[in-house]
Amino acid sequence: MRTPSFPSRLPAVGTTIFTVMSALAQEHGAVNLGQGFPDFECDPALLDAVNAAMRAGHNQYPPMAGVPALRDAVATKIEALYGARYDPGSEITITAGATQAILTAILACVHPGDEVIVLEPCYDSYGPNIELAGGVIVRVPLTPGTFRPDFDAISRALSPRTRAIIVNSPHNPSATVWSAADMDRLAVLLRPTDVLLISDEVYEHMVYDGQRHASASAHPELAARAFVVSSFGKTFHVTGWKIGTVAAPAALTTEFRKVHQFNVFTVNTPMQVALATYLADPQPYLQLSAFYQRKRDLFGQGLAATRLRPLPSQGTYFQCVDYASISDVGEEEFCRWLTTEIGVAAIPLSVFYAGGFEQRIVRLCFAKREDTLHRALERLAKIQGR
Ligand SMILES: Cc1ncc(COP(=O)(O)O)c(C=O)c1O
Repeated sequence: MRTPSFPSRLPAVGTTIFTVMSALAQEHGAVNLGQGFPDFECDPALLDAVNAAMRAGHNQYPPMAGVPALRDAVATKIEALYGARYDPGSEITITAGATQAILTAILACVHPGDEVIVLEPCYDSYGPNIELAGGVIVRVPLTPGTFRPDFDAISRALSPRTRAIIVNSPHNPSATVWSAADMDRLAVLLRPTDVLLISDEVYEHMVYDGQRHASASAHPELAARAFVVSSFGKTFHVTGWKIGTVAAPAALTTEFRKVHQFNVFTVNTPMQVALATYLADPQPYLQLSAFYQRKRDLFGQGLAATRLRPLPSQGTYFQCVDYASISDVGEEEFCRWLTTEIGVAAIPLSVFYAGGFEQRIVRLCFAKREDTLHRALERLAKIQGR
């Protein structure tokens, strides 16, 4: 018997660093600040709502685009926050998390040979998603040091073959946030083009120091060409539920749903029903920035007493640190040492660049209980140098 071999669709993809570091963290009893997920529970009211939805018989296929009550609630939320009115019937789709939403948007609009601009460092699914669509990845670095968008470089990267650009703010991994002025500059650049925008806004409710999230949906010119992607997993501490949304003009949504229909078709019903009810109260997501800002501050103050240099964290639940004063080894080697010798797992920033750009910066996740953060800080305070 023989299993046929075939050319891989994604030959460069192997085991991700997240899996590697999590396994290493477990093996060495390290505090895992590598992978980005909370180590605390969600609001029990949300669990009760899911249970109630199941008991009430919401256990069969929902409509393809999502439970209408949830699409209504999402449209109401977007209008209240960003002043844009999306039609829940034709412009909002419920997805199996942001990852599926982004892949589906790319498969819906990218033809073989089309170029898609990604700003590096970036979330690891973008590149493989573009490759699966047969698109050409055009990588534009964010400015080293500040991770600010380099609009001149973006402008140079635009070509007649550019189909889309992917923007992610608040940004994983750098924890920077685009301002409304940044969105204006992007709009000016895209104005003479037919380039679509895939706006990955999964951390929209984690923005600090009084800054406001500049959603593409709040910018009419950008919204007219944008798939705006959100994730309930990030917002309600339920990353394992894999449920998100895409808001896009009807013409874009029509194409999006053609792919969605033959990809996941629908997303689990009871979670949708529960979220529709839960969204009636805006407080849980309105208070999220303050909730995470306290964790960021606690963690940042602790880091100040270590030899790591914290970079600004303006949004997301990530904190990057510069270790150049401690060591000049590469980022991956430093992360392995930090995990095995110090007992704290982190993620090298270089893995968010296709070319593995090295800056002596690693990413830590502070979506953790206070005792977890204290435990990590105690260990990090012991770093002498290597
Ligand atoms: C920038 C970014 N986009 C998308 C996702 C995926 O979100 P989801 O879990 O809803 O698929 C993540 C998760 O880490 C992320 O950091």
